[in-house]
Amino acid sequence: MIDIHSHILPALDDGAANLSEALSMARLAADDGIKCMACTPHIVPGLYDHNDAPRIRSAMAVLQTVIVEMGIDLHLVIGADVHIAPDLPTTLGTDRMPTLNGTRYFLFEPTHHVLPPRLEDLAKRVIEAGFVPIVTHPERLSWIEHHYDTIERLNALGCLMQITAGSVTGSFGRLARRHAERMLEEGRVDIVASDAHNTAGRPPLLSRARDAVEKRLGADEAEAMVDGRPAGILSDRPITPVGMTVKPETPIIRSSRNKGLDGFLRKYRRKGEY
Ligand SMILES: [Fe+2]
Repeated sequence: MIDIHSHILPALDDGAANLSEALSMARLAADDGIKCMACTPHIVPGLYDHNDAPRIRSAMAVLQTVIVEMGIDLHLVIGADVHIAPDLPTTLGTDRMPTLNGTRYFLFEPTHHVLPPRLEDLAKRVIEAGFVPIVTHPERLSWIEHHYDTIERLNALGCLMQITAGSVTGSFGRLARRHAERMLEEGRVDIVASDAHNTAGRPPLLSRARDAVEKRLGADEAEAMVDGRPAGILSDRPITPVGMTVKPETPIIRSSRNKGLDGFLRKYRRKGEY
């Protein structure tokens, strides 16, 4: 399996605290059947903006060397957990904002607690700039309950959808599981990833979630979510979101609010929500 979302690199964000924890995570992942893992530390303006491509690449090289020395079978590739920012269309793909393995695909993380204004406009602009957003864990965003139509429209625009393995298996609670199941049932999920932060509460495991998806959608689709599509992404092959043409079930309600994204992010940025 291939995990395209992890916070395994030590001491860059709220993921692995040190090299020893990163190695334990690598061992867990390899034992679970994960062969390749994207290192995707947070890049959040004003909170985690020290992470850039050279820094991530050098932390990854150190960890990969020790992983090999320890005899762990896990290949690392570069990436980032890219929080929304108004200048993404120009910063993506530069050293400031690495994409997944240098491809057109990148992890696109909206704010967790409040629907950001003009999110669809931002997604449109990055797509026009040649990138493909992978919306990270939509099922865990607290605003999904009242704004599911936004997820539907992001999907229709061409955004891929990545849910978290722990949401499928229940470790993020009842609501996240319900939204994950709804998205799976609708055929709106492209990828399952671990979004691992440590070895205990948020471990780098995919096999239990893959098995749960297999029971609902069959072995082929489950494998596609944890192996086929992630491989396509890391090789920069064109991928059409599975849910792109799924008909919305809820009426489209457009927000009349039109505040600038910049001001919004300053107001709602909170430590600890990632
Ligand atoms: Fe993440």
